[in-house]
Amino acid sequence: MPFPDVRPRRLRRTPAIRRLVEETKLAPSEMVLPMFVKEGLTEPHPIASMPGVVQHSRDSLRKAAVAAAQAGLGGIMLFGVPTTESKDETGSAGTDPDGILNAALRDVTAEVGDATVLMSDLCLDEFTSHGHCGVLAPDGSVDNDGTLAVYAEMAVAQAAAGAAVVGPSGMMDGQVGVVRKALDAAGYQDVAILAYAAKYASALYGPFREAVESSLVGDRRTYQQDPPNLREALREVALDVDEGADIVMVKPALPYLDVIAAVHASFDVPVAAYQISGEYAMVEAAAANGWIDRDRAMLETLTSIRRAGAQIILTYWALDAAAALRTRY
Ligand code: PBG
Repeated sequence: MPFPDVRPRRLRRTPAIRRLVEETKLAPSEMVLPMFVKEGLTEPHPIASMPGVVQHSRDSLRKAAVAAAQAGLGGIMLFGVPTTESKDETGSAGTDPDGILNAALRDVTAEVGDATVLMSDLCLDEFTSHGHCGVLAPDGSVDNDGTLAVYAEMAVAQAAAGAAVVGPSGMMDGQVGVVRKALDAAGYQDVAILAYAAKYASALYGPFREAVESSLVGDRRTYQQDPPNLREALREVALDVDEGADIVMVKPALPYLDVIAAVHASFDVPVAAYQISGEYAMVEAAAANGWIDRDRAMLETLTSIRRAGAQIILTYWALDAAAALRTRY
């Protein structure tokens, strides 16, 4: 060795010294578990493309929410799955206080209170017969401002049902401002907004569309972002922060680590990232084939997302990761 005898390997010699110098830590408290609840189910129903993830019944959701709180997770994010009969052109089950998502929010609120942070997806795609995130104009395009009016009503219904955080995920222009105004006018100044600020039109949402039994034909490219664009993401985030977003999110996560890093560097609100269904499914499928070590891949991807600058991660592995972290060293 030339002088000076610099040997970075000294700090990698044992698990204890590696732990000592570890720059990025993961904690259950910064992980949020997305959960699906389906109208009319009496038993949980597995989602084939997301091994280990289920559509919950209202009852199994209650129990799973308690387990998430007991595991110390930072939060849970609820998605409602209405029956086909409950879907219509305008997604009215989303604003109906007795719609599946609002009913489930009330159930979970009664069960866990503030022991974990209860979040709700604020979007119409699960509730519309056409599967788009908004209402349609006569020419079939997604009507931005018409959709905003529905989001405002939906936000208030979710807050009334107990959501502590609403997550507008439809990528309509102006959605955060409209939701903030509606919440404030209804007396829900304390309900926070997690803005899906930079949400890309990704191929990796495939398994989620099975999970929510989406009726979508076509794609969401006229409202979700185009994958090649980074600067546009910063513009989207800036707009959302100006409109009152409390937390901003980048989605998907792993293919967009550069976007997470840039958002983290440019804004002072908490940054979240959503490790989406396809990111989960790819690892699970490879692991099921014996091609990779599932738990190591799980923690490595989560650590990478954290290292890039996301301080909150939405992940279907939240419970598994919390368990793996407990036995890591
Ligand atoms: C929209 C929404 C989607 C996801 C979360 N919220 C689907 C979409 O935009 O097509 C995807 C999450 C995932 O893939 O895990 N309500």
